[in-house]
Amino acid sequence: MSTTDNSAPVYLEVLAAPAQFATSTPTAPIEFSGPTSYPDAISTTLAAEASEIIARYPRTRSALLPLLHLVQSQDGYLTRAGITFCADQLNLTAAQVASVATFYSMYRKEPTGRYLIGVCTNTLCAVLGGDEILAALTDHLGVSPGETTGDDAITLEHVECNAACDFAPVVMVNWEFYDNQSPSTARELADQLHADTPPPPSRGNPTLCTFRQTARLLAGLPPADEQAM
Ligand code: FES
Repeated sequence: MSTTDNSAPVYLEVLAAPAQFATSTPTAPIEFSGPTSYPDAISTTLAAEASEIIARYPRTRSALLPLLHLVQSQDGYLTRAGITFCADQLNLTAAQVASVATFYSMYRKEPTGRYLIGVCTNTLCAVLGGDEILAALTDHLGVSPGETTGDDAITLEHVECNAACDFAPVVMVNWEFYDNQSPSTARELADQLHADTPPPPSRGNPTLCTFRQTARLLAGLPPADEQAM
């Protein structure tokens, strides 16, 4: 029971929770795939690079995010080997690493093409044609959002707000901006990516790196020869 300003009693009846909230269906656990360990030579190289990264932080575990980028640069996504490697380097459990890795959308759980195209269809981009761009690329590339072309060149992704609304509709490739896109310019961009001749991004970095090279930069390491990665 509660009271109002004039002290008239108000009775609140506590009901059973609405059906949609009364039960919940457990979702399947997120699993990582790929190899479970690295060959010795790769493991040795990664460990040396990891120690360089870890030394930058006052607490070892603070290096987890760049280390996840490091193993993503090695594999193109987060594999079971990458998760285990990070856990071993930072004295964490695999579950602790996985819980962080699954929180951030920049860490991929499936193999990723050389170019990850993210099309924003959030409010402003949608009003200005984001949905048409996504549909055009889906048709042009022959893949649905979340899938990779058969030649491993391009992964198409549907994203929520690239934080570049004033340049909508915006497409990101490997997290670099391509502003004020249209279906035809996006198709042209995809063709250039397929040919490994990406145009310069609209802002920021003057050249576009591949997905794995970008992951390496995000780990805080200098570029490496793609062939050697
Ligand atoms: S709505 Fe597309 S970048 Fe913000």
